[in-house]
Amino acid sequence: PPLTALIPAAGRGERFGSEQNKVLSELLGRPILGWTLEAFAQCDEIGRIVLVGSESDTDVLWALGDQYGGGKLQAVVLGGSTRQESVRRGLDAVGTEFVLIHDAARCCITPALLTEAAGLTRIHQAMTLVRPVTDTLMRRSGELVDRSALVAVETPQGFQTELLRRAHLAARSEGFVATDDASLLRRIGRTVHLMESTLPNPKLTYPQDAFVAAALLRERGV
Ligand code: CTP
Ligand code: MG
Repeated sequence: PPLTALIPAAGRGERFGSEQNKVLSELLGRPILGWTLEAFAQCDEIGRIVLVGSESDTDVLWALGDQYGGGKLQAVVLGGSTRQESVRRGLDAVGTEFVLIHDAARCCITPALLTEAAGLTRIHQAMTLVRPVTDTLMRRSGELVDRSALVAVETPQGFQTELLRRAHLAARSEGFVATDDASLLRRIGRTVHLMESTLPNPKLTYPQDAFVAAALLRERGV
Protein backbone atom coordinates (compact mmCIF):
# COMPACT_ATOMS: atom_id res chain seq x y z
CA PRO A 1 0.00 0.00 0.00
CA PRO A 2 1.19 3.51 -0.77
CA LEU A 3 2.64 5.87 1.83
CA THR A 4 1.41 9.26 2.99
CA ALA A 5 3.65 12.25 2.34
CA LEU A 6 3.65 14.72 5.24
CA ILE A 7 4.98 18.08 4.06
CA PRO A 8 5.66 20.76 6.68
CA ALA A 9 5.10 24.16 5.08
CA ALA A 10 4.18 26.27 8.10
CA GLY A 11 7.42 28.21 8.44
CA ARG A 12 7.82 31.96 8.04
CA GLY A 13 10.93 31.92 5.86
CA GLU A 14 12.71 34.57 7.87
CA ARG A 15 16.18 33.89 6.43
CA PHE A 16 14.73 33.90 2.92
CA GLY A 17 13.51 37.42 3.53
CA SER A 18 10.35 37.40 1.44
CA GLU A 19 7.14 39.10 2.55
CA GLN A 20 5.17 35.86 2.61
CA ASN A 21 6.01 32.25 3.51
CA LYS A 22 9.00 31.43 1.28
CA VAL A 23 7.47 28.22 -0.10
CA LEU A 24 4.78 30.37 -1.71
CA SER A 25 7.38 32.54 -3.48
CA GLU A 26 7.58 32.11 -7.22
CA LEU A 27 10.25 30.00 -8.90
CA LEU A 28 10.18 29.40 -12.67
CA GLY A 29 6.54 30.41 -12.96
CA ARG A 30 5.00 28.65 -10.00
CA PRO A 31 5.19 28.71 -6.21
CA ILE A 32 8.17 26.77 -4.79
CA LEU A 33 5.76 24.37 -3.08
CA GLY A 34 4.26 23.55 -6.50
CA TRP A 35 7.55 21.92 -7.54
CA THR A 36 7.70 19.92 -4.33
CA LEU A 37 4.12 18.74 -4.72
CA GLU A 38 4.66 17.69 -8.32
CA ALA A 39 7.45 15.28 -7.33
CA PHE A 40 5.05 13.53 -4.93
CA ALA A 41 2.25 13.60 -7.50
CA GLN A 42 4.54 11.75 -9.93
CA CYS A 43 5.68 9.10 -7.42
CA ASP A 44 3.51 5.97 -7.46
CA GLU A 45 4.65 4.99 -3.96
CA ILE A 46 2.82 8.03 -2.57
CA GLY A 47 -0.96 7.70 -2.22
CA ARG A 48 -1.84 10.73 -0.12
CA ILE A 49 -0.39 14.09 0.80
CA VAL A 50 -0.86 15.96 4.08
CA LEU A 51 0.26 19.59 4.07
CA VAL A 52 0.95 21.51 7.26
CA GLY A 53 0.53 25.26 7.04
CA SER A 54 -0.29 28.40 8.93
CA GLU A 55 -3.88 29.58 9.26
CA SER A 56 -3.49 32.43 6.77
CA ASP A 57 -2.06 30.08 4.10
CA THR A 58 -4.74 27.39 4.37
CA ASP A 59 -6.72 28.39 1.28
CA VAL A 60 -3.70 28.81 -0.97
CA LEU A 61 -2.29 25.47 0.22
CA TRP A 62 -5.51 23.71 -0.78
CA ALA A 63 -5.40 25.44 -4.15
CA LEU A 64 -1.78 24.43 -4.74
CA GLY A 65 -2.54 20.87 -3.67
CA ASP A 66 -5.36 20.72 -6.17
CA GLN A 67 -3.20 22.17 -8.94
CA TYR A 68 0.06 20.26 -8.42
CA GLY A 69 -0.75 17.37 -6.06
CA GLY A 70 -2.12 14.94 -8.63
CA GLY A 71 -5.38 14.51 -6.71
CA LYS A 72 -3.51 13.18 -3.65
CA LEU A 73 -4.02 16.07 -1.19
CA GLN A 74 -5.89 14.63 1.77
CA ALA A 75 -5.65 17.36 4.41
CA VAL A 76 -4.22 20.75 5.27
CA VAL A 77 -3.35 20.79 8.97
CA LEU A 78 -2.63 23.85 11.10
CA GLY A 79 1.07 24.06 11.99
CA GLY A 80 2.83 25.05 15.19
CA SER A 81 5.61 27.41 16.23
CA THR A 82 8.42 24.91 15.45
CA ARG A 83 8.92 22.45 12.61
CA GLN A 84 8.73 19.65 15.17
CA GLU A 85 5.36 20.86 16.42
CA SER A 86 4.11 21.20 12.83
CA VAL A 87 5.07 17.60 12.01
CA ARG A 88 3.55 16.32 15.27
CA ARG A 89 0.24 17.94 14.40
CA GLY A 90 0.36 16.69 10.84
CA LEU A 91 0.83 13.12 12.06
CA ASP A 92 -2.71 13.20 13.49
CA ALA A 93 -4.01 13.24 9.92
CA VAL A 94 -1.87 10.35 8.67
CA GLY A 95 -3.78 7.09 8.24
CA THR A 96 -1.22 4.84 6.52
CA GLU A 97 1.28 2.46 8.11
CA PHE A 98 4.25 4.40 6.74
CA VAL A 99 4.85 8.11 6.29
CA LEU A 100 7.43 10.10 4.37
CA ILE A 101 8.26 13.50 5.88
CA HIS A 102 9.64 16.08 3.46
CA ASP A 103 10.41 19.79 3.82
CA ALA A 104 8.28 21.90 1.50
CA ALA A 105 11.40 24.00 0.97
CA ARG A 106 13.34 21.09 -0.69
CA CYS A 107 11.70 21.57 -4.04
CA CYS A 108 14.33 19.79 -6.17
CA ILE A 109 13.51 16.33 -4.83
CA THR A 110 12.79 13.79 -7.61
CA PRO A 111 10.13 11.07 -7.88
CA ALA A 112 12.95 8.50 -8.25
CA LEU A 113 14.53 9.47 -4.91
CA LEU A 114 11.10 9.40 -3.25
CA THR A 115 10.50 5.89 -4.61
CA GLU A 116 13.82 4.69 -3.22
CA ALA A 117 13.11 6.35 0.14
CA ALA A 118 9.66 4.71 0.32
CA GLY A 119 11.16 1.27 -0.31
CA LEU A 120 13.79 1.74 2.40
CA THR A 121 11.11 2.97 4.83
CA ARG A 122 9.21 -0.32 4.47
CA ILE A 123 12.40 -2.34 4.99
CA HIS A 124 13.93 -0.40 7.89
CA GLN A 125 10.93 1.39 9.59
CA ALA A 126 13.07 4.51 9.84
CA MET A 127 15.30 6.13 7.21
CA THR A 128 16.72 9.48 6.26
CA LEU A 129 18.37 10.88 3.20
CA VAL A 130 21.93 12.00 3.94
CA ARG A 131 24.70 13.63 1.95
CA PRO A 132 28.43 13.14 2.37
CA VAL A 133 30.10 16.34 3.52
CA THR A 134 32.46 17.78 0.90
CA ASP A 135 33.82 20.83 2.72
CA THR A 136 36.74 20.69 5.11
CA LEU A 137 35.21 20.95 8.57
CA MET A 138 36.56 22.48 11.76
CA ARG A 139 35.34 23.62 15.12
CA ARG A 140 35.21 27.37 15.67
CA SER A 141 38.21 26.87 17.94
CA GLY A 142 40.15 25.88 14.81
CA GLU A 143 40.34 22.16 15.51
CA LEU A 144 39.92 19.98 12.41
CA VAL A 145 36.95 17.56 12.34
CA ASP A 146 37.19 14.25 10.44
CA ARG A 147 34.49 14.69 7.81
CA SER A 148 34.48 11.03 6.77
CA ALA A 149 32.55 10.28 9.95
CA LEU A 150 29.93 12.93 9.18
CA VAL A 151 26.95 13.40 6.87
CA ALA A 152 24.53 16.25 6.27
CA VAL A 153 20.95 15.26 7.08
CA GLU A 154 18.23 16.04 4.54
CA THR A 155 14.67 14.99 3.81
CA PRO A 156 12.79 12.84 2.83
CA GLN A 157 12.78 10.89 6.07
CA GLY A 158 10.53 7.82 6.24
CA PHE A 159 9.02 6.09 9.26
CA GLN A 160 6.53 3.58 10.43
CA THR A 161 3.88 6.11 11.44
CA GLU A 162 3.22 4.74 14.93
CA LEU A 163 6.92 4.68 15.72
CA LEU A 164 7.29 8.33 14.76
CA ARG A 165 4.23 9.26 16.83
CA ARG A 166 5.83 7.61 19.85
CA ALA A 167 9.08 9.46 19.22
CA HIS A 168 7.26 12.79 19.04
CA LEU A 169 5.38 12.12 22.27
CA ALA A 170 8.59 11.22 24.07
CA ALA A 171 10.40 14.29 22.75
CA ARG A 172 7.56 16.53 23.78
CA SER A 173 7.36 15.18 27.31
CA GLU A 174 11.14 15.58 27.69
CA GLY A 175 11.26 19.03 26.13
CA PHE A 176 13.65 17.72 23.47
CA VAL A 177 13.56 19.81 20.28
CA ALA A 178 15.30 18.92 17.01
CA THR A 179 15.21 20.30 13.49
CA ASP A 180 14.38 16.90 11.97
CA ASP A 181 12.47 13.72 12.82
CA ALA A 182 15.21 11.10 12.60
CA SER A 183 16.81 12.73 15.68
CA LEU A 184 13.66 11.98 17.65
CA LEU A 185 13.90 8.28 16.75
CA ARG A 186 17.53 8.19 17.83
CA ARG A 187 16.51 9.83 21.09
CA ILE A 188 14.28 6.84 21.94
CA GLY A 189 17.05 4.44 21.06
CA ARG A 190 16.03 3.43 17.52
CA THR A 191 18.44 3.25 14.65
CA VAL A 192 17.72 5.16 11.48
CA HIS A 193 18.82 3.77 8.13
CA LEU A 194 20.99 6.18 6.12
CA MET A 195 20.23 6.52 2.41
CA GLU A 196 23.25 8.22 0.91
CA SER A 197 22.86 10.41 -2.14
CA THR A 198 25.10 12.94 -3.83
CA LEU A 199 22.31 14.39 -6.00
CA PRO A 200 21.77 18.02 -5.06
CA ASN A 201 18.66 18.45 -2.91
CA PRO A 202 19.02 21.96 -1.47
CA LYS A 203 16.70 23.36 1.17
CA LEU A 204 15.81 26.87 0.04
CA THR A 205 16.92 28.85 3.05
CA TYR A 206 18.57 32.07 1.79
CA PRO A 207 17.43 34.06 -1.27
CA GLN A 208 20.38 32.90 -3.40
CA ASP A 209 19.37 29.27 -2.92
CA ALA A 210 16.55 29.93 -5.37
CA PHE A 211 19.07 30.42 -8.19
CA VAL A 212 20.57 27.03 -7.51
CA ALA A 213 17.15 25.39 -7.37
CA ALA A 214 16.06 27.05 -10.61
CA ALA A 215 19.14 25.79 -12.40
CA LEU A 216 18.54 22.24 -11.14
CA LEU A 217 14.88 22.27 -12.17
CA ARG A 218 15.74 23.67 -15.60
CA GLU A 219 18.39 21.07 -16.16
CA ARG A 220 15.69 18.45 -15.71
CA GLY A 221 13.85 20.03 -18.57
CA VAL A 222 10.92 21.67 -16.83
N1 CTP B 1 8.28 24.59 9.03
C1 CTP B 1 7.01 24.30 9.57
N2 CTP B 1 6.62 24.86 10.75
C2 CTP B 1 7.45 25.68 11.44
C3 CTP B 1 8.75 25.96 10.92
C4 CTP B 1 9.14 25.40 9.72
O1 CTP B 1 6.24 23.56 8.95
N3 CTP B 1 7.01 26.24 12.57
C5 CTP B 1 8.66 24.02 7.73
C6 CTP B 1 9.06 25.07 6.70
O2 CTP B 1 7.90 25.57 6.05
C7 CTP B 1 10.01 24.34 5.79
C8 CTP B 1 10.62 23.25 6.69
O3 CTP B 1 9.82 23.22 7.88
O4 CTP B 1 9.36 23.72 4.71
C9 CTP B 1 12.08 23.53 7.01
O5 CTP B 1 12.18 24.72 7.77
P1 CTP B 1 13.06 26.01 7.38
O6 CTP B 1 13.84 25.76 6.16
O7 CTP B 1 13.74 26.47 8.61
O8 CTP B 1 11.92 27.05 6.94
P2 CTP B 1 11.41 28.34 7.74
O9 CTP B 1 11.27 28.01 9.19
O10 CTP B 1 10.20 28.82 7.02
O11 CTP B 1 12.60 29.38 7.51
P3 CTP B 1 13.34 30.28 8.62
O12 CTP B 1 13.87 29.33 9.66
O13 CTP B 1 14.41 31.00 7.87
O14 CTP B 1 12.29 31.22 9.17
MG1 MG C 1 13.01 27.48 10.39
